[in-house]
Amino acid sequence: MEEIRLQIMTRPLCHALFRGWENDPAIYADLSKFAPYRYGPERVDRYFDRLQEPSRVVFAIMLGEKPIGEIQLKRIDREKGECVLSIHMQNDAVKGRGFGTAAERMALRYAFDTLGMRAVLADCVRKNTRSRHVLEKAGFRPAGEEGDFILFRCERD
Ligand SMILES: CC(C)(COP(=O)(O)OP(=O)(O)OC[C@H]1O[C@@H](n2cnc3c(N)ncnc32)[C@H](O)[C@@H]1OP(=O)(O)O)[C@@H](O)C(=O)NCCC(=O)NCCS
Repeated sequence: MEEIRLQIMTRPLCHALFRGWENDPAIYADLSKFAPYRYGPERVDRYFDRLQEPSRVVFAIMLGEKPIGEIQLKRIDREKGECVLSIHMQNDAVKGRGFGTAAERMALRYAFDTLGMRAVLADCVRKNTRSRHVLEKAGFRPAGEEGDFILFRCERD
């Protein structure tokens, strides 16, 4: 299988990622909120600027020299030793090829080994069965429900 790696997101990578971006309806609990993604340079700049804060690490998922997705460790609570993982692949062409599972496993290792986290949390819209399956494959376990969302947790081994 082709190998991916994680690289800290940069502004140029962020633009390259969103030039080929498609929103995925699976992440919307309320489908009326779904709209196809339209690339705009200022919009991406604003998004990238918002990501720059100390409680968040954002990675580009890299296939060769191309970003094919984004994975974040956010709401990093250093006292509690917990953070929240979120992931979105760039478009359908790069889904279903094992990259999402590999990226989640790498981000978990980074959270435990580099950030020293004790647990990583994630949540997922109930109907997003693909994401639920991938979270469990990467090592998360269901840890409750909140409205339309299922909560997941992965403890450091
Ligand atoms: C969820 C996501 C990150 C998974 O990444 P991916 O690269 O597509 O996933 P992988 O190829 O590693 O694995 C897909 C797995 O899901 C399974 N799968 C595919 N469609 C499925 C479905 N509708 N229901 C359940 N499982 C499904 C595949 O069979 C595969 O499992 P297997 O290896 O055991 O056969 C990616 O699809 C994505 O970005 N989706 C849109 C955004 C999103 O949902 N983010 C998560 C928000 S919580």
